[in-house]
Amino acid sequence: MNLNRWKRKDLFGIEVLERDELEFIFEIASDFRAKMDAKDKSLPSLEGQSVVNLFMEPSTRTRVAFEMAATRLQADVITISQGASSLVKGETLRDTAMNIQALGADIIVIRHSSAGSAKYLSKIVDIPVINAGDGAHEHPTQALLDCFTLKKHLGDLNGKKVTILGDILFSRVARSNIWALRKLGADVTIAGPATLVPKSFETMGVTVCHKLEEALYGADAVILLRIQHERQTSTHFPSLGEYTSMFGLNEKRASYLKKGALIMHPGPLNRGVEIDSSLADSGRSVILEQVTNGIAVRMAALYLCSIANKNSTF
Ligand code: CP
Repeated sequence: MNLNRWKRKDLFGIEVLERDELEFIFEIASDFRAKMDAKDKSLPSLEGQSVVNLFMEPSTRTRVAFEMAATRLQADVITISQGASSLVKGETLRDTAMNIQALGADIIVIRHSSAGSAKYLSKIVDIPVINAGDGAHEHPTQALLDCFTLKKHLGDLNGKKVTILGDILFSRVARSNIWALRKLGADVTIAGPATLVPKSFETMGVTVCHKLEEALYGADAVILLRIQHERQTSTHFPSLGEYTSMFGLNEKRASYLKKGALIMHPGPLNRGVEIDSSLADSGRSVILEQVTNGIAVRMAALYLCSIANKNSTF
């Protein structure tokens, strides 16, 4: 395998990646996913390396998937939450990262409420930094696992219609997915309340559509997003009930999608708000498959950033 296809120490966003780098991550992740399914332990090893997960915002899927990914690669894993760190005593993020490096960490995975925090840390420490979500900016490994899942079902994404529905404005998942899907040639439509789906997103090469039926019509997949209350400072629609009645995905609205279209959600999902439970649990939903694929994709991210930093080979 030609490892020259990946030269980056860090993974702080999709925006800066080339299409070939995305494809290379998918190839490695596909290999890891196949070995996971076959319970094949002959994986490349990060034995002796320490992965420190700095999670400064709540997380279930991303945190556990990074922990599982590092464990499967035989690395040691330490997870630190904001409340259990000296950040609450006034230590800066910079000093926290410098101290973690001094303690011997080999890779830092960070989730933080500030946009740009992962890139900022990558300039401060010498070890790889992987972004697990920075404010409303990017969530690169989520987009990678979403596209990996889409490709598994749809093959080449060139010309495929993918609709992202919900709170686009405050969503790092939406931004990273738009970058990734556009680089892979998909036609991306974004939809939701006009207050949360501004026209300015057209500069990212997407179609902005406020007519839900039009946005869903003929789509190969729909990615639903929850309302990101934690990042909103004012009200962007009258009530959750009104949001659901206008934009919630139900059976009738799902009938506008292409036959066999995939229903996706990064989680956590709010059942009965952005998606009916019957759809979330239906055969068209790949929501839990996304979660499982997240382990393989994060194994690939940890592995590639690690070898690029150590300049080693398979
Ligand atoms: N999709 C996602 O980031 O979920 P968590 O917040 O649970 O990690």
